[in-house]
This record gives sequence, structure tokens and C-alpha cells, in this order.
Amino acid sequence: MSKRIGILTGGGDCPGLNGVIRAVVLHARNTYGWEVLGIRNGFEGLYEESYFELDPVRVTHALARGGTMLGSSNRANPFAYPIRMPDGRTEVMDVSAKILKNLSKLDLEGLVVVGGDGTMSFSKKFVDKGARIVGVPKTIDNDLEATDYTVGFQTAVEVVVEAVDRLQTTAESHERIAIVEVMGRYAGWIAMTAGLAAGAHVVLIPEIPYDIDRVVEAFHKRHGRGIPHTIVVVAEGATPKGGEHAVAVKGDSTRQDRLGGAGQRLADAIAARPDCADYEVRVTVLGHLQRGGTPCAFDREIATRYGVTAVELISQGKFGHVAALDKGRMVAKPMELAIKKLKLVQPDGELPHAARAVGIELGG
Ligand code: F6P
Repeated sequence: MSKRIGILTGGGDCPGLNGVIRAVVLHARNTYGWEVLGIRNGFEGLYEESYFELDPVRVTHALARGGTMLGSSNRANPFAYPIRMPDGRTEVMDVSAKILKNLSKLDLEGLVVVGGDGTMSFSKKFVDKGARIVGVPKTIDNDLEATDYTVGFQTAVEVVVEAVDRLQTTAESHERIAIVEVMGRYAGWIAMTAGLAAGAHVVLIPEIPYDIDRVVEAFHKRHGRGIPHTIVVVAEGATPKGGEHAVAVKGDSTRQDRLGGAGQRLADAIAARPDCADYEVRVTVLGHLQRGGTPCAFDREIATRYGVTAVELISQGKFGHVAALDKGRMVAKPMELAIKKLKLVQPDGELPHAARAVGIELGG
């Protein structure tokens, strides 16, 4: 019987996941003669024993397709797993032992787990119990310390840049302040990178709590120079000085807080100021548009390199490692680096420096 590896995608989806799956299938099959088992909906598939064979035909044209053909779930925390009881109640249980048992029944050479920090922290716990897992870091947030780049980030940035380009023309026509709220959770990579690329006038990120007076001063200055419109890119995790994150839905033991509302909060703060009475403000929340659709060329390329490297990590027995991009090269890094701490924008680093140098107001 030929050897077999498995692959699952966990957490929020992002563009490029199908490219990773395709590369894993092609390299495993063509180079090592391994079969590949697809596990549905992250760790949920291991709990439910929901699998299907992935062969080269299944992954044809996968590079250009967004989402994940395996499905994903960000509620499938094996250590706090919500289970619907016959009486309709949901009980949260630790199902990790069952998942580990199902995994060992599959007798895989190794399992590729494609995920963000949450999925990697579950994986690490399984590795510590002997599971043969390697990781591929993905998230539009680009906030994993282990790697310079997570699959999906560049496509999200492209979506934001296109949206800001479109908002520029309408904001200009109506002499408005256009606030664009973007994702990124507790990291400001999307807002900062897209803000620079799109030529936003104000960029607010979680790493630099903003002073509303400085933000408003930027509007006044533009008006004073005869430019009556302003584009503000605000990260969903941005906070006013001394303020809290804007939380749309409170988390529980099975999932994190869902952020949302930072843009509207800023609009309300502007509306409440007498010195802003003449400004018309509109808020656009880009939300999941940033995660959907066709991956850009870079995400397809990097997804392929990540998939190839993950298969090689299995062939080398480097379990408990993730494939990582380090100064342009694919390397292996210990999985704990993907979970220990978030990779954040350095407030005095090169990106904020470039932003300030071209006159972007960062609010702090
Ligand atoms: O981590 C990726 C991400 O898109 C974040 O930027 C965002 O805060 C979150 O996921 C949204 O999660 P959900 O898909 O559960 O709404």
C-alpha cells in the first residue's frame, strides 16, 4: 500500500489556500509517490472523520480559486469544542483525545496544517503528544512572528488599495471624509501597507493608539490647503488613546472576540466635535471582501512554495515545524514561533517612518 499524507485548513479562509493544497498534492504525488488525504473543515474533519482523497485532477485550476476546497472552521478548537446536545444546548468539550486517536488511525506519514496562530497552537499541543504535524502559516493579517509573510496578505492589501482608489474619486467629488475600516485583528499590517500603497491621508493602526485631535488637525490642514476630502484607513483593531478595541461580538471559550466598529466609532467622534460641523463623513467597512476572490500572483507563487516546503518538511521528519519565509527564502521554523507572540508593526519602524515622511497622519 502506498504511503499517505494529510492536509487540513483551519481558521479563517484566505486567498491562496487552494494553491497550497495544489502544491502539496502535486509534490507529494509526483516526487514521493504519496497519496494525499483532504480533511474537511479544519480539526472538525478529524473529529467527524470526514475525509476525501485529493488527486491531481481535484486540484486542477486550483491556483486561481479563492477560499479553500477543504472547507475551514474557526470554531473547531479541539480543546474547547462546541457540541450540540440532543436537547438543543451547546456544550463545550475537550475532544482532543478523540481527534488524536482518529489521526493515529489514519496512519499518515505526516499532516500539513495550514492555519494562523490559533490553528498552530492546537497543532503544537498535538505535536507535543506525538502527532506528526508540519505547518503552513496563512492569514490575511500577516501577524505570525515565525515568518516574514503569511499566505493571503498581499491579496487583501490589493483589495483595500482598489477600494481606496475608488473611494478617492467619490470622496473628492463630494468633498467628504471617507473612512475605510480594514481587517487585521490586533495588527496594523493591512492598514499600513495598503494605506501607503493607496496614498491614504490618515492611517490608524492598533500599534499606534490615536489622538483624535491630531486626526482632526489633519482634516483642517487639508482644508486649509484647499483640499476638502480626506481618506482615512482605520484598522479594525485601532484604538483611540486610552480606549479599548471596538468589539462587534464578544468571544467565549471557543472563539476570540470579533472586532468591528472602529470606523463608525471614529466617525461618531468626528461628528461630536463642533470644529468638525462642516465635514461630511462616510464609513465603508470592507470586511470579508478582503478574504474572498482570486488570489493575486504573489499569493499563488508563495502558496506553491509553502506547499512544496511543507511536503519536504514531512519527508525530512521535521514535525513541529512550520514552513516560513525568511528574507526571501523558504526555511523551517519551530512551530512555537508561530504562536508565542504576534508580529506587529513597529511604531517607530520603517513603514510608519515612510508614511510620516510622505505626510500621512498616523494619529500618534
Ligand atoms: O484573522 C483573519 C480575520 O479576517 C481578521 O482580520 C478578522 O478580524 C477575523 O478574521 C474575522 O473573523 P470572522 O471570519 O470569524 O468574522
